Amino acid sequence: TSPELIRNFCIIAHIDHGKSTLADRMLQMTGVVENRDMRAQYLDRMDIERERGITIKSQAVRMPWEHEDTPYALNMIDTPGHVDFSYEVSRSLAACEGALLLVDSAQGIEAQTLANLYLAMENDLTIIPVLNKIDLPAAQPEKYAEELANLIGCEPEDCLLVSGKTGEGVEEVLDRIITDIPAPVGDADAPARAMIFDSVYDTYRGVVTYVRVIDGSLSPREKIEMMSTGTTHELLEIGASMPEPKATKGLGVGEVGYLITGVKDVRLSKVGDTVTAAAGPATEALGGYREPKPMVFSGLFPIDGSDYPVLRDALDKLKLNDASLAYEPETSTALGFGFRCGFLGLLHLEVLRDRLEREFDLDLISTAPSVIYDVTMEDGSETVVTNPSEYPTGKIKEVREPMVQATILTPSDYIGAVMELCQDRRGKLQGMDYLSSDRVEIRYRLPLAEIVFDFFDQLKSRTKGYASLDYSDDGQDASDLVKVDILLHGDQVDAFSAIVHRDNAYSYGVAMAGKLRKLIPRQQFEVPIQAAIGSRIIARETIRAIRKDVLSKCYGGDISRKRKLLEKQKEGKKRMKMVGTVEVPQEAFIAALSSD
Ligand code: GTP
Repeated sequence: TSPELIRNFCIIAHIDHGKSTLADRMLQMTGVVENRDMRAQYLDRMDIERERGITIKSQAVRMPWEHEDTPYALNMIDTPGHVDFSYEVSRSLAACEGALLLVDSAQGIEAQTLANLYLAMENDLTIIPVLNKIDLPAAQPEKYAEELANLIGCEPEDCLLVSGKTGEGVEEVLDRIITDIPAPVGDADAPARAMIFDSVYDTYRGVVTYVRVIDGSLSPREKIEMMSTGTTHELLEIGASMPEPKATKGLGVGEVGYLITGVKDVRLSKVGDTVTAAAGPATEALGGYREPKPMVFSGLFPIDGSDYPVLRDALDKLKLNDASLAYEPETSTALGFGFRCGFLGLLHLEVLRDRLEREFDLDLISTAPSVIYDVTMEDGSETVVTNPSEYPTGKIKEVREPMVQATILTPSDYIGAVMELCQDRRGKLQGMDYLSSDRVEIRYRLPLAEIVFDFFDQLKSRTKGYASLDYSDDGQDASDLVKVDILLHGDQVDAFSAIVHRDNAYSYGVAMAGKLRKLIPRQQFEVPIQAAIGSRIIARETIRAIRKDVLSKCYGGDISRKRKLLEKQKEGKKRMKMVGTVEVPQEAFIAALSSD
């Protein structure tokens, strides 16, 4: 297809605002999916995505649409819908010339959508505002058209009014994509350059890499090169999703499609990388490539220690489809053998944990999420800490923690509640704007560690679920941070160490010690539970002694009965963990880590 007849677009929308429904409707109207084939939510593939109602992996579909008797090819590129995947979103946007800004006309725009809209505007994408679900009785299209018009600088009348459910207004959306969004431009005679915006592992075909060709062309059987690493692969198949994958004779300027090379690991086909032809390669890669970088770390441990090999195999498997997942073995006195895992964010962590439990039938416990701390020692040496139990013990000069820019959208009634929460979490107010008379955008700069610690839940509960949050990386700040250890009878319980701000150290210590006192059964001797910063004790609780003598129940005499009882007691001890001289049922640790 010649570039003038191609339109590449994506849909920017908040979760549940109806992206999948609208996408399905477009597939149906353009005739690529017949009614009877209509599977609900064609584009969402993984079960989890469907169940949790989130779109994680993006892919692309080609649709034919005729406008004024000219046939066009529309490529719809799906974007992931969550904050953790913002880099993938930015690459999907970079593959497009335009975006539908899809907003539920009963809800209005949300923080996440706003963040992605700004990203699209920075990328110079043409924005088509679409108000969806106008069939709903609660729809207020006029109100939100005003909001959208203010945001993107158009007239309220420019907003399309649509219902993905009934199909109303959808044809007009397809027409507007052709009339409003510019055709792709590129140099057909230049060496090939294609940008990877997604790569997905498929059990039968290996890695399927989705690309947008910028310059030149790619054809089957040719050797391609990944420009970030210089590795070469043979192109076994090249094609486009219509929406079933269909091999083509190649992909030219402006086209969107997939490549198959037989590689088995998405790490060899990285989002944002540039693909070129090995014979006559381009000299300069496309801009914007970034290595995936985990931001949040947590230990994952099987509740049943014998599941460790299953967990290891499961992680090896999931890694094939997740270039941003990092992990290494970790041993904890409290929790046994497990893995220290790195994630893009909290949702990424939750999704992975869910998949491990569901697809591999594992019961897992995860330690409190931690961020990356850069520590400079007095002697000038530097350490990177992702696990509080590895915090250096010597003289520390400075600790730096990751910061984020948070954008919160809330009804104006909750401004006070939101500001109080952000203030509590060491936030600095950056600015505030009214989107309409009753909705406000509040911007704060906050430590990532504070967001990782139940911030989202708090935000939701303090705003009755009405506020939405988005955040992005904003460098590092030096902070007054300390490591708090929890000691049981003088021995450190590694899984409970935490790096916290000095002002919060005492309350963390008191809370943890109190929790453990309630959960750990009495022992034969008195057990102190202490919270400490270095050698300084900041809080203490005590588990009083009990003398549990099983033999006292046998009124002398029967030796075989005595032996049986002793045997039984030994059995019960197997599920106990020893922390120094204290026996702790593993359940106590699990409860302490999971309950708030
Ligand atoms: P994610 O895939 O989770 O990002 O959600 P989504 O934005 O793709 O939303 P989805 O299409 O799954 O729709 C969310 C809910 O809204 C579903 O229950 C849909 O049935 C409903 N819905 C979608 N479009 C419309 C519409 O035009 N009118 C009405 N009344 N409901 C709609």
